[in-house]
Amino acid sequence: MIKPHGSDSLNPLHVADPAENAALAVRARTLPSVLMSSAGSANAVMLGGGYFNPLTGFMNKADALRVAQSMHTRCGLFWPIPVLCLVESAAHIVAGDCIALCDPNVTGNPALAVMEVAAIETFSEAEMATICEKVYGCVETAHPGVAEFLAQGRIALSGSIRVLNFSYFETEFAATFRTAVQIRARIQAHGWRKTVAFQTRNPMHRAHEELCRIAMQRVGADGCVIHMLLGKLKPGDLPAEVREAAIRKMVERYFPPNSVMITGYGFDMLYAGPREAVLHAVFRQNMGATHFIVGRDHAGVGDYYGAFDAQTIFDDEVPAGALAIELFRADHTAYSKRLHKVVMMREAPNHRNDDFVLLSGTKVREMLSNGNTPPPEFSRPEVAQILMEYYQKGEKNKRI
Ligand code: ADX
Repeated sequence: MIKPHGSDSLNPLHVADPAENAALAVRARTLPSVLMSSAGSANAVMLGGGYFNPLTGFMNKADALRVAQSMHTRCGLFWPIPVLCLVESAAHIVAGDCIALCDPNVTGNPALAVMEVAAIETFSEAEMATICEKVYGCVETAHPGVAEFLAQGRIALSGSIRVLNFSYFETEFAATFRTAVQIRARIQAHGWRKTVAFQTRNPMHRAHEELCRIAMQRVGADGCVIHMLLGKLKPGDLPAEVREAAIRKMVERYFPPNSVMITGYGFDMLYAGPREAVLHAVFRQNMGATHFIVGRDHAGVGDYYGAFDAQTIFDDEVPAGALAIELFRADHTAYSKRLHKVVMMREAPNHRNDDFVLLSGTKVREMLSNGNTPPPEFSRPEVAQILMEYYQKGEKNKRI
């Protein structure tokens, strides 16, 4: 098996022993507590599941700034995006305290984790802006990731944590939510030597499907792990349960049995493009994948990033040997009307743009909202039907 990032074995921060977990949960109720932001709680869930190996908790200010600037912690660990617990107020806490970190996304705000507070530090607006510039490439609050980041408090609580549960992900997405520990174990049980990981926040149209197939063939993979984001997205993106249903149907219908694992992870989308692609690669390595697909505008939003910036960052800014996982770089992929199949554009000679069936996400949403099915060259009919049912139920305005 491929090694986890930064250590020989995976060290998830979730307290797995039931008796120990129950005792810690009881103790958490007696501790001073803070309410985390959604982003902070998603970080805790990722730390709990082993995805953020080898981190042992939340970063302090110096590490967060160093990571933002140079993609390394002060002790030299390669890490692409600060992992922070930002809160509004911590007047009742001092360094050295053991505190309960409470979950903003579950009714009653139960404790999600327990932290040994090493430091309580405040970020200046200039430091917040530096992080935005480095991680998201801008400071505009029109960028949904920047807006979420800046909406948090300025007080960073840092220190090691022990995680009690996986928030709403393990209850609401029981069939799909999996930790890095679980996925590693499944890959091992399958005996897959080469495993392709596919990141997605979409229902998987034909381009997504074909990218998985092409990547598996080209790298000689034994299997593919579709790893969908289950956390928060910007308004307008599809809820996880709809994406999940569409992906399950597509895999069941169009992939050989036991060649694809459908899984999900509990993290909010950052829309940080290239930097997020690198974070994605880190946590796919931790879950045991040997190859990671990065295509066009990976983790992008609007026009904030160049179409292939999320690939070139691996050449320009990720030091050789920093990651063991290999990239599968996909070109813009679409159905060719001349070749009658979905292809990567660089492999379709003498094509003009209108030789391809190209539809933007906005266009597809507009079609579905108006009761028009996307063409079969773009979406499998089974997938289109699930999406149409969702849109026709009038749920399109439901905020996620
Ligand atoms: S993402 O925000 O999670 O990246 P999405 O689920 O649409 O969005 O994409 C998942 C992966 O498929 C990313 O690596 C993305 O670059 C790639 N991808 C999606 N559509 C295409 C396409 N038409 N051509 C090439 N790559 C694509």
